[in-house]
This record gives sequence, C-alpha cells and structure tokens, in this order.
Amino acid sequence: MRNNETVQALEWTGNALKVLDQRQLPETIVYDEYKDAAGVTEAIATMRVRGAPAIGIAAAYGVVLSVRKQYAQSNQWRQKVTADIDRLAKSRPTAVNLFWALNQMKAVLAKQLDNPLAAILACAEKIHRDDIAANHKMGELGADILAGAKGVMTHCNAGALATGGYGTALGVIRSAYQRERINVYAGETRPWLQGARLTVWELAQDGIPTTLIADSAAAWLMKSGAIDWIVVGADRIAANGDAANKIGTYSLAVLAKRHGVKLMVVAPTSTIDWSIDNGDQIEIEQRSQNELLPACYLEEDSLVSAWNPVFDVTPAELISAIVTERGVVLNPAEQGVRGLKNAI
Ligand code: MRU
Repeated sequence: MRNNETVQALEWTGNALKVLDQRQLPETIVYDEYKDAAGVTEAIATMRVRGAPAIGIAAAYGVVLSVRKQYAQSNQWRQKVTADIDRLAKSRPTAVNLFWALNQMKAVLAKQLDNPLAAILACAEKIHRDDIAANHKMGELGADILAGAKGVMTHCNAGALATGGYGTALGVIRSAYQRERINVYAGETRPWLQGARLTVWELAQDGIPTTLIADSAAAWLMKSGAIDWIVVGADRIAANGDAANKIGTYSLAVLAKRHGVKLMVVAPTSTIDWSIDNGDQIEIEQRSQNELLPACYLEEDSLVSAWNPVFDVTPAELISAIVTERGVVLNPAEQGVRGLKNAI
C-alpha cells in the first residue's frame, strides 16, 4: 500500500472548497475552487463531487461559504444563508448524508451565536474528520468479516473519491488487502461508469490490482466461483435495513442470492435515515436521459427515449451484513439497524 489518502475528493483551503472534478477522471485530474454556496450546489448537482458522504461534506462547506459571504455583507444574513441551504438541499435527492449534514449546520446556526463563523467552520471540519475516522473503523470491521475470502466484487465507487477519505466499501477492501491478498473485481457501473472510471483508478493509486467486468458479466463471474462477497456502499439505509445504492446493486443482490455469494453494505451511520421504516420511502433520483442516450437520439422528434433511475433499493433480506462505524449488523432482515441508533 502506498498512501491511503493520496486521492482526495475535497479540500478546504481556508477560504474556498477545492473539488476534484470527477467527471473528468481518470484522464484529467483537475480541481475547481468554489467560493460560494451556489457553486457548491452546482458541483453536487452536476456530479463533479459525488458519493453520499462526500456530498454531505461538500454541502457542509457550502454552508460555511454562505455564512462567510452573507454575514459580512448583510443584516439579513440569516435569511440569505437559509435560502442557500434550501438550494443545497435540492441538489440531489437520494443520499441522506446531504440532509444529515445540512441539519447539523442548521443546529449550529440556531444557537444564535454573536459571531457564528468559527462555530460553523468547526462543525464542517468535524463532519469531514469524523467521516474519515468512521471509514477506517469500518475498514477494520469489514475486513474481519472478509477473512479467508478469495475474491470480492464492488459496484459503483464507494472509495476515497466518494467520502472524506479512505472509503466505505473500498475502505473495507483496502483494509482486507493489507491483511491478505484478495482478488478484487469492479463492475463498470453504467451509465456513469463510476466503476470503470473511478474505482479501478482509485485502487490502482494504492497499488491494489483490480479486474474490471462489464455489468452484464456479474452473474457469470458469480457462477465461476471467483467471488465470495459483494461489497458496496449505500446512499440511504432505512430503519429495517433496506439500502438504497447505485442502480444495479439490487440486480447484484438477487444474483448473489442465487449463487451463494454474500452481500455486505458498508456505510457510516450518517447514511441511516432513522425516520423511515423501509426502503419504499426512499426517493430515487432520476437523471437526465442525456446521460444514457446516444447523442443521435436526443433530437426533439426522436422515437427513442431513456429511463434513467440512478439508484435502486436492495431489501434487507438480501443483505448479509451492514457494517457501520458503530458496529456490524449481521442478517439485518431480522431486526433492521435500529439497535445502532443509541450505540456509541
Ligand atoms: O451517483 P453517485 O455516484 O453519487 O452514487 C454513489 C453511490 O451510489 C455510492 O455507492 C454511495 O454513495 C456510497 S459512497 C461511499
């Protein structure tokens, strides 16, 4: 392993948020610098930054930028910051980490401090720091479960690029690989290709060899006996353990059941939505058909359209383990994740 933190999706410079433009990876490594909340909102909506925890952290810094700008300029600063927070909340609908982080920032603002700047920055930095610590903890807990496995497959990108650093699913794979060599497979993850463009690149930065497969090769890979586990992240987990993640995760879960492969979902507790009983209540983001359709079908009178839901929900009964920084829930279909709520 070279350096776990080489890849960084986000960096706070002291007066701006630097965002690695993930649309351009792996060919081009370019950071954009944002100095206001509107810019951060746009960066999340356009997926320059993506992945549930990273979206939450970026939004928290977006609120810092809003307070810095509005507090200095206007007596009406609270209303303006509230409007910025409302716009940030509309950037993407599925990952609950976004709303969780914004609620933390709102709670600090509600304290009516004379000068909120220091407190609001401290809150964003804590969200960022805690996420990295949670990932390292989950990495070890997940690697314990993978002991003896010869092969794992992951889907989408749940790595350093999608978090404050180290990653959730990829954190587990990193920790497991440090203990014992393991064969790693990554699905390309159509249509946005998070697996093909981000995951294999990120793992290569750490010297971890990865085999890329077409999404449609997953069943055949499982039938070959090459993998024991599928390890993925999540965007929102309901109290009963149902988990929303990148489109295609549900198909993998169904295939895994058929082939005796186990499914591990790795996510910090900031990804749990305690307010919903089950996955039916999770809003699934639909993105533009332009992200899926070949350009020749985009004309107005085209007879070809696309349906582009970018997440799906895997029922708890298809999940073998949910790994969080507060502990592991095996067979979540039995009790859900409610027992983690008050765990430390
Ligand atoms: O559309 P994306 O790329 O934001 O979707 C990301 C995922 O689905 C990840 O698996 C999830 O956010 C977990 S990231 C640690």
